[in-house]
Parts: sequence; structure tokens; C-alpha cells
Amino acid sequence: MELNPEMLEPSACYKLLIGTVVPRPIAFVSSISTTGNINLAPFSYFNAVSHHPLVLAFSVALKADGSEKDTLRNVRPVSEGGTGEYVINLAVEPYIRQVAEASESLPYGESEFNHIDLTTVPSQLVQAPRVAESPVAFECRTLQIVPIGTFNLVLGEVVHLFVRDDLVDENYRVDTQKLAPVGRMAGNNYCYTDRQFTIPNGLSR
Ligand SMILES: Cc1cc2nc3c(=O)[nH]c(=O)nc-3n(C[C@H](O)[C@H](O)[C@H](O)COP(=O)(O)O)c2cc1C
Repeated sequence: MELNPEMLEPSACYKLLIGTVVPRPIAFVSSISTTGNINLAPFSYFNAVSHHPLVLAFSVALKADGSEKDTLRNVRPVSEGGTGEYVINLAVEPYIRQVAEASESLPYGESEFNHIDLTTVPSQLVQAPRVAESPVAFECRTLQIVPIGTFNLVLGEVVHLFVRDDLVDENYRVDTQKLAPVGRMAGNNYCYTDRQFTIPNGLSR
């Protein structure tokens, strides 16, 4: 099949994209409003952008009615009505069902933490709490928000990192098997990452 995206419905582009750019890591974003309401939502349009400085990006769609999702409102800079701060927790095996549950849309100001079996812990440098159950948490400050059509790409600088002690050695090497991250596939499908293998340097030479 040869496809011209300009000739396709957005829903077809969506299905093609989420079915091919797989597996996607999942940012489980905790954020807070200026009035102190805590919000939690998963985003799989997510990846690392730079490690010097340490920058992560995730992309948020506008709602069908054109309004902004709670996360986007909260992570907007203070000058745009947000707090400009948030935490990217990682979606991992032990609570992947709660991650999916947190994608339910709630009225602005109502916290997912009231409905989902997860707990919060205060962060070190940002107002938004991290998810206590998450083995990794990146405390972020919004660097830039880039509007892209019906999406907004949020670029955030990591100002503090939490990694559970048993996952990382003294040389900062992470045990990815133990981390047990879950990937998002198409639709409601997810994948485990426990079948890992090594390609030794020089194999192809
Ligand atoms: C695993 C998973 C990944 C998701 N990824 C995204 C994404 O990358 N961008 C997006 O706009 N919505 C994504 N969603 C949907 C949002 O989580 C959903 O719209 C949520 O209600 C937004 O919450 P908020 O309004 O509290 O910010 C995803 C949902 C799930 C379950």
C-alpha cells in the first residue's frame, strides 16, 4: 500500500501511526493546577529528546471539542495559567492497569488519585507529587510548548530524578529487566519488555 497522508482521514493516520510506531514508552504524568488540584494521566507520544541538558517530550492532543486536557493546562508556564511543573513517572508492570484507568477523563480539578489505587509522595523540587509506586520519576519544568496542529508538544527539563535504589548501580547503570517497563502497542494493547538480548559490538563486521 502506498499512502499519501494528505488524502487520509485523521482517524486513519492515527491507526497507522499507533500501529507502526511501537512499542511506545508511556509517560505517566502527575501535574498540579494553580489551585492545588493533582492530576494524573498517561501519554505514549513520549520520548527522550536530550540528555545534556536532560529533556523529555510528550505530546498532548486537544479534546474533541477543541479544549485542552487537564495535563496541558497544568504544565503550561505560569504566564499561561499553569504551574509549569510536572513529574513524569514511568508505566511499569506492577501498576499498568491503574495507568490505563488514569486515562479516564474527569472534570477539571478532580484528581485521578481519588479513583485509582495509587499514592502520591511529595517531589523534591516541583510542586506536583510523584507516584509513590513508580520506580522512576523525572521532576520536570516546562521548557517550551510547541503547538502542532491539534497537538501540543511539551518539552520539559528534568530538574530532579528519583530512581529506586535496587534498580541502579554505583555507575548509574539501570537494571532494565527489573524496571519492567511496559510499552504501548495499538489500541488497548500493551507489551512487556522481558525478552531482551545482546548484540555484541563488531558482530556485523
Ligand atoms: C496508554 C495510554 C497512552 C496515551 N497517550 C496519549 C498521548 O500520547 N497523548 C494524548 O493526548 N492522550 C493520550 N492518552 C489519552 C489520555 O491519557 C487521556 O486523554 C486523559 O484523559 C488525559 O487526562 P487529563 O485530561 O487529565 O490530562 C493515552 C491513554 C493511554 C491509556
